[in-house]
Amino acid sequence: MMDLVNKLLVATILLVPRPIIRKFAGRYIAGEEISDAVGVVRRLNAEGAMATLDVLGEDIHSAEEAEASKRMILSVLEAIKAETLDSNVSIKLTQLGLRIDRDYCLSAMREIVGRAAMLGNFIRIDMEDSAATVDTLSIYRALRKEYANVGIVLQAYLRRTDADATALLNEGLSNFRLCKGIYIEPIEIAFKERAEINEHYLRTLELMFRAGGYVGIATHDILLVEGAYRLIEQLGLRKDQYEFQMLLGVLPELRARILAKGHRLRVYVPFGSHWYQYSIRRFKENPQVAGNVLKALFTRNRLN
Ligand code: FDA
Repeated sequence: MMDLVNKLLVATILLVPRPIIRKFAGRYIAGEEISDAVGVVRRLNAEGAMATLDVLGEDIHSAEEAEASKRMILSVLEAIKAETLDSNVSIKLTQLGLRIDRDYCLSAMREIVGRAAMLGNFIRIDMEDSAATVDTLSIYRALRKEYANVGIVLQAYLRRTDADATALLNEGLSNFRLCKGIYIEPIEIAFKERAEINEHYLRTLELMFRAGGYVGIATHDILLVEGAYRLIEQLGLRKDQYEFQMLLGVLPELRARILAKGHRLRVYVPFGSHWYQYSIRRFKENPQVAGNVLKALFTRNRLN
């Protein structure tokens, strides 16, 4: 039944005219150009938040597109430096051709992470659907052999995550972002119930902290934010051992509350010309988001 409702939601969203999708996506996306993204990051920095920039455009289909993504990411790194922004960069490996040419993807990442190191910046490798998990982890491990300024994301909904966290920590790789996970995965490999995912999230977070990991606590779920506060206090962590992370446009009032308590917080800022495809893909992956957009359409919520 839920499946049918979700399919209907997605079908409905595809009928919504592009300019309207754009209006609603506009809350979650910084714009099309680097200059738009720079403006948004500047505003966030002024609020006391750090940022991580994401050039939209995962899952490209040709070597030319992968090369174009690489060039764009390199220019983002230059812009961050030139504009003295407090921002790092998040990258989905499929936008650098992970699914079409793994070797190219690794060499492009070497170039990007190397340039980021020279500029004093940091690259976070986003985690995509489970078909990409193993390759993403192996590219991360290969990069870490050469560079320290790169970190990974683990997803609390995956059953394998505790084992991945433990293995990485044993290898001395300890810079994580921990999120619930956004893709729809089979029950054999993923927890499905919110309570189960949350329990796994907090267990993994504790495991990471106890092993001395640095964690980007990426969530808007108040239960997890409060769980993280408790762990931070219990373990007596310093403010430079973790940061909270939230998506642009999602629960800005929670963001303000976390910042007001003196915690460090980073906002994930997607931008780029692929905003439409990105929004539609997000809706398909997670029809709940489509539900939010439709709700906003019909209740005429304000955008900011
Ligand atoms: P939950 O889904 O329970 O949401 C809690 C509340 O937040 C909701 O009730 C709603 O009010 C609000 N909310 C959450 N998402 C919203 C949205 N999109 N629009 C409007 N309201 C929303 N995933 C992944 O698989 N790989 C990755 O690399 C990343 N990277 C990443 C970075 C950062 C900084 C964040 C915050 C998230 C990710 N994610 C991700 C996405 C993550 O896995 C997850 O899907 C979302 O954050 C939603 O989960 P929450 O923990 O927020 O809880």
